[in-house]
Amino acid sequence: MIRRREFIHNGVVGATALLLARPARLVSTILSSAPDARIEILLEEVLGTISPNIYGHFLEHIGGVIYDGVWVGEQSKIPNIDGLRKDLVDEMRKIKAPVVRYPGGCFADSYDWRDGVGPADKRPRRTNFWNNEDETTGAPASHRYESNRFGTDEFMRFCKAIGCQPYLAANVRSLPAEAFSRWVEYCNSPAGSTALADARAASGSSEPYGVRYWGVGNESWGCGGNFTAQEYAVEFRRYTTWVPEYGQPLSFVASGPNSDDWQWTRGFFEEIARKDKGLFSSIFGWALHYYSWNLSRGRTENWDEGKGDAIKFDVQDWYEVLREGNRLESLIEGHWQAVGEFDSGHQVKLVVDEWGPWYRPGSELTPGYFLEQTPTLRDAIFSAMTLDIFNRHPEKVTLASPAQLVNCLNSLYLAYEDKFCVTPVGHIFGMYSAHQGGQAVRTIISAPNAHYLRDDKPASFWGLKGSASVRDKNLTLTLVNPSVSEVRETEVVVPGASIKSAVMTVLSNADLHAHNSFDQPNALTPQVKDLQSTGRVLTLQIPPASVTKLELSLM
Ligand code: AHR
Repeated sequence: MIRRREFIHNGVVGATALLLARPARLVSTILSSAPDARIEILLEEVLGTISPNIYGHFLEHIGGVIYDGVWVGEQSKIPNIDGLRKDLVDEMRKIKAPVVRYPGGCFADSYDWRDGVGPADKRPRRTNFWNNEDETTGAPASHRYESNRFGTDEFMRFCKAIGCQPYLAANVRSLPAEAFSRWVEYCNSPAGSTALADARAASGSSEPYGVRYWGVGNESWGCGGNFTAQEYAVEFRRYTTWVPEYGQPLSFVASGPNSDDWQWTRGFFEEIARKDKGLFSSIFGWALHYYSWNLSRGRTENWDEGKGDAIKFDVQDWYEVLREGNRLESLIEGHWQAVGEFDSGHQVKLVVDEWGPWYRPGSELTPGYFLEQTPTLRDAIFSAMTLDIFNRHPEKVTLASPAQLVNCLNSLYLAYEDKFCVTPVGHIFGMYSAHQGGQAVRTIISAPNAHYLRDDKPASFWGLKGSASVRDKNLTLTLVNPSVSEVRETEVVVPGASIKSAVMTVLSNADLHAHNSFDQPNALTPQVKDLQSTGRVLTLQIPPASVTKLELSLM
């Protein structure tokens, strides 16, 4: 049933579309009933260029992320490229990974980069930041004590193998600003110019790494120093003043808010503005972190009690995770507005460098791998919804990365020794890579809501959302149907253009809990269908609980 407001909206959109949409109809499947959803893609209304970097990634020295996930060692029997897990590198090349953030997370503010460079056998063994957390989980010592076998040079090797940009997070809590400057010097000073350039050359790279993106601390309101916003603003100024560039312009990312902490955003920018508004031009990004963890439907705010299970969930939990994730759009809009109260020209962009669902422990494929969870179809839907949100705000969000790439929370990949699989989240990044660098265009989607029972009371969630981008005559439209049961009979029109060909890729499954594992790595994979028709209106069925990508070639 289409509700009244939706019906009126449909009517308006439909009237325009009727004028345009009479000729040949492109029907991908036989519709069981009249269309109940309509999508109009307005090519003339460009929202901005989708920064490829919103399809970025995040690696931390935590649990099995680095050791085993990324680094298997040069002598390993596991296929590797100079010690780096080959399967991982290959997959990341396929999805065109543009940027990777490293080495944390909270770990970053405990890390001395100097421990991780130089001859591998001389590097000191340290206590990992996450050591205490790991004690109860039976984590291997390699996760509790940091060998420093993987450091800056190995990370750069990883980025080079993938063909992506490095994004380093500096330690503001426990190292002085001088150490930050020296890290920049180690990475970026020209060959032969400084002692640190020589040290880098001795480690295999005489050419500078040319690192552009630098995070100045991480979660500085919490594990990164427990600062007030004003205190952190002072630190930010100190750390970023007169850092030598070595010919490589630096883009500093300031540690932004957790979720809806508007005070942190306002407090920081107020303090920066108080001293010198000119400093806004030196802040490239404002890092927002948002995890969707509380599935208690308002019963608790307790971090442990509020979480749900990654694999064992009911329909209510399905929608609850999506509802929580959906909040990200208003957080982006809200923080953008709050920053704009000070930086009216919006020189500072948003960087959402930690996002994703966070479930309670128990679903990890490898017991003892701290924070590892098994992503299901629900997380694929969640991730697609999130990427669509970024695509719809190209002028605001310039870089983003889910937490974290492998063997962690919302991971694209799971690995253990010689076993490896792509998760449903990994498949979403593969499908969505077509948006990178495209022109985002306004897309009007009208569809009935999804209805369900929330604590035995009728509740609803939107029924179809997505994003569209164009490059030349090629249009990419991605869509999420979150309904657990309803097919969306959908018409797609592109006013002023007709469709020469259409390819449809769908990730879905009758089982909401579907996921990939080492034993069944292909339980959930995208299915591709060539629609082989032309016309002005594309009519198709969008299955329940699905993510769909349409690649349209336009005339
Ligand atoms: O991603 C795991 C942790 O979550 C990160 O280290 C920290 O930044 C966040 O709180």
